[in-house]
Amino acid sequence: MFSRFSLLVLCATFACVAALPDQVHIAITGNPGERVVSWVTAYTADTIVQYGSSASALTQEAKGDETTYRTSTTLLARTLHLHDVLLSGLQLNSRYYYRVGDSVSGWSEVFYFDTKIDVPNTPVDIIIYGDMGVSNSNQTRDLLVDEIQAGFSSLIIHTGDFAYNMQDADGVVGDTFMNLIQPIAARVPYMVCVGNHENDGRNFSQYQARFNGISRYTATTKTNLYYSFNVNYVHFVAFSTEMYYNTNQTIAEQYAWLEADLAQAVANRDKQPWIVLFGHRPIYCSNVDDMPDCSSDARTLREGPYSIDNLLAKYNVDIFYSAHEHSYELTWPVSKGQWQEFPNPNVYVNPIYTVNIIAGAAGCPEDLSYFDSVFYGPWSNYRSASYGYGHFMAHNATHLHWTQNIAEGAEGTNDLWIIKGNATEVAEHAHNFGFPPSPAPVDECDEYCFATCSSVAHRQGKSVEETHTSCGASCNCDTRVSAGKGHEIGKKVRVERSRILRH
Ligand SMILES: *[C@@H]1O[C@H](CO)[C@@H](O)[C@H](O)[C@H]1NC(C)=O
Ligand SMILES: *[C@@H]1O[C@H](CO)[C@@H](O)[C@H](O)[C@H]1NC(C)=O
Ligand SMILES: *[C@@H]1O[C@H](CO)[C@@H](O)[C@H](O)[C@H]1NC(C)=O
Ligand SMILES: *[C@@H]1O[C@H](CO)[C@@H](O)[C@H](O)[C@H]1NC(C)=O
Ligand SMILES: *[C@@H]1O[C@H](CO)[C@@H](O)[C@H](O)[C@H]1NC(C)=O
Ligand SMILES: [Fe+2]
Repeated sequence: MFSRFSLLVLCATFACVAALPDQVHIAITGNPGERVVSWVTAYTADTIVQYGSSASALTQEAKGDETTYRTSTTLLARTLHLHDVLLSGLQLNSRYYYRVGDSVSGWSEVFYFDTKIDVPNTPVDIIIYGDMGVSNSNQTRDLLVDEIQAGFSSLIIHTGDFAYNMQDADGVVGDTFMNLIQPIAARVPYMVCVGNHENDGRNFSQYQARFNGISRYTATTKTNLYYSFNVNYVHFVAFSTEMYYNTNQTIAEQYAWLEADLAQAVANRDKQPWIVLFGHRPIYCSNVDDMPDCSSDARTLREGPYSIDNLLAKYNVDIFYSAHEHSYELTWPVSKGQWQEFPNPNVYVNPIYTVNIIAGAAGCPEDLSYFDSVFYGPWSNYRSASYGYGHFMAHNATHLHWTQNIAEGAEGTNDLWIIKGNATEVAEHAHNFGFPPSPAPVDECDEYCFATCSSVAHRQGKSVEETHTSCGASCNCDTRVSAGKGHEIGKKVRVERSRILRH
């Protein structure tokens, strides 16, 4: 297979007008029997997908459009030629082989994808992670390639922070990343949301361009910054957390759309009983380095006029997936400062709040994000500062299973069942899953705060001391202070963590 780079070498050596396609990736539209196929060429070319039921019989052909994207605003900017094709009317539960390109400029190798998840009422196994990068991600990517080639997952969701950074080196880092994920992204839909590392000072233009197929064919909003799609039992909603951090984007429009989309999803809950939101930054998290990620930055998303927490609570969203922390954390069901605990920490039965899962451990060159043995949210159930990614499996309307591999599986897994049903159904399953009846919600609010403390942050492999006094002081509840030990530059010091009782 030719890469863009070997092609450029060839083109530099010989006069050459070829534009071999690379960076092939596909997306789901939310309509069964449809896929969007996207790729990039270095020069203008026709936009054709040839496909069929065997590699030697690519008997069908579909055409799409080419758009162009300038990789920077400098005079040295390159032009990427982006190609997107909608395939529709595909047979369900089938394998399709395909290649992309055109007969003048050249064809890609032959890839294939499956349409098994398009069959209604089929369990859906999705891999979810964030924060990957082109360096320090080989181990994760090798595992992903193995899993995807073996057919263990039908779709990938990457919750932001792709290449570190797509826009670097005039977009060459973005090209490298898209080629590194091609073995998985050409095989299963690669669904995405935007992270802070995609902020290129040009309205996230690299991200918007490279996943343009989603904007064109999946998103009713016509933008891949916020959109939704259904897969069987699940309604997935993607949005941009970055709009909350001064990027001049249309936060009010996004919020109005989120409200409308979630209201519609609730009305459709008989068809898609599970509602899952994903964005890049967490609203509840416990990491103590990289301040103020889990204090004021999380609060920015959680509270205020565009509160994500309010949306999750109002529409009973089942799970909010995020990343940004280079670690893994699972919360108890928690909304607006109240949380619920279950006797079996791996089985939540009819949770009344949203489960937060922070899975940002796919590699990336910035080191892991760490936890403290004392400083963690009272709503936090499980934490691991190790690399890994997770499997989301919606078995049916009542059973959802999540499994994160810890230290890429070397230290086992952390898993969670979410089970919904009436008393009769739950009693039937109690035996199988070995859980006692659910207790009442814990009557406390979450205004836990990081009292004045120091911690050691890890940046680019170096340890840096940071001092924080970012308490969430606005809580009106009584404060119960518990003492514990925290870290301060190599030695343990006494610190305070506040837990607040709600009246
Ligand atoms: C990671 O994988 C890519 C693609 O296979 C390879 O080019 C690169 O050298 C690898 N990096 C390391 C550090 O192994
Ligand atoms: C950024 O992109 C979005 C989606 O394409 C668009 O709606 C918005 O107007 C853009 N914002 C700016 C400041 O260009
Ligand atoms: C937002 O837009 C204003 C007015 O166009 C500009 O002055 C400001 O620098 C922008 N801020 C950011 C963070 O882009
Ligand atoms: C739903 O899936 C769970 C887990 O696989 C299974 O135990 C249960 O019987 C299923 N329920 C239905 C109605 O099929
Ligand atoms: C509980 O659910 C089962 C299976 O969906 C149904 O047959 C039964 O009538 C329900 N029971 C109640 C009390 O709603
Ligand atoms: Fe991030």
